[in-house]
Amino acid sequence: MSRSAHEWTARPRLQDDEFVSSTVYTHPGIFELEQERIKRATWKFACHESELPTRFDFRTVEHAGYPIVLVRTEEGGIRAFINSCSHRAATVVRAPRGNAEQWRCLFHAWTYDTRGRCIAMPRASGYEQAGLCKDGMGLREVKVGIKLGMIFINLNDEGSPFDEYFGDAFEILEDVMGTKELEVFHLHKTVINANWKQWFETNMEIYHEYLHFLNRNIAMSNDEFYERRWKIYPNCHGTLTPMKQRYERVKGLGRRDERTLPGLTPGEFRVVDLFPDTTILCRATVLRIDTSNAISPNQTLVEQRGLGIKGESAEDRLIRINHHNQFWGPFGRNLPEDVVAVEAVEKSNRCGASRYGIMARHDEMKSLDDALMRAFYKEWSEYMGRPASNPLGALPGETNAANR
Ligand SMILES: [Fe+2]
Repeated sequence: MSRSAHEWTARPRLQDDEFVSSTVYTHPGIFELEQERIKRATWKFACHESELPTRFDFRTVEHAGYPIVLVRTEEGGIRAFINSCSHRAATVVRAPRGNAEQWRCLFHAWTYDTRGRCIAMPRASGYEQAGLCKDGMGLREVKVGIKLGMIFINLNDEGSPFDEYFGDAFEILEDVMGTKELEVFHLHKTVINANWKQWFETNMEIYHEYLHFLNRNIAMSNDEFYERRWKIYPNCHGTLTPMKQRYERVKGLGRRDERTLPGLTPGEFRVVDLFPDTTILCRATVLRIDTSNAISPNQTLVEQRGLGIKGESAEDRLIRINHHNQFWGPFGRNLPEDVVAVEAVEKSNRCGASRYGIMARHDEMKSLDDALMRAFYKEWSEYMGRPASNPLGALPGETNAANR
């Protein structure tokens, strides 16, 4: 039976954790609070070590609205800084990547080394009266953690230590990413018209695989697909039991029983979700790192990296790129379909046509259970200090009535 306007907007008759208010995706105040309490307070995947192969290589990224620069130091380590001049805040390093021993701000030529020290300010004597000198004017350093070649950053100096935050979440990636050196061969950025959480949800729930032609044929046609179980680690990272996918069932995909990445059996698929916005997916011969940067409540920069084995032959690399792009390239038959779906959700949420999203599937933690999404919003609620089912109740200056 269809529903009246009253019935449509009424709170769902579900447990609090079985649905979320659509305002978690649309409200500007919620967005700003997420940036502060979640994005700037947790560990964030920034890039892969292969993107900074030699000393003094740098890469700039955005994180939680902040410009960040990462650099391979003279000693071979990785450091990260907020990419903002100590003087008047101009972005210091303006190129997406490069190699430099010093960075000079274009505005007034204050200059920094790759340890973040301010090493030159023109006509510094003019600051003597004010008691200011370059010694106290370094860049703001950002914490770095490295695991299996993946570089993470954390803007919160007081937050959980790296190893404590992730715990055992990388356990099923150790053999895949830790045996042979991998490198990024594909970096693809897309701005989508959807909220960052909606994008991450496509990696946290498998029920939507009905969307995907390839997944229906190579995965959902096996009972094993439905019997896999979610495992949820402390701090809300999650993984699903690995499974073999039958690529040979779709003409043109090839068998994928050669060039398998270390630790995987032919055709094997693995996925690891890292709270709050990064996913690592292994698809037999290729590995994808998926992360995003929230631009606004309804705009998200999605970043996809494809990885292969460093030093492999040109022929092997070409096949691996082909395998990657069949699913995850800009014209693949998987990832672009997710974009279409989440943009369709966002369209209804933004205009207020939809008030709630339902996450009420229970299936003994099997693959079609919404358990990881419920865990995500439980974690989200703790960081945000408000329930995802009714998040505006406690926002300053607003009442529940505003929770449309
Ligand atoms: Fe998907």
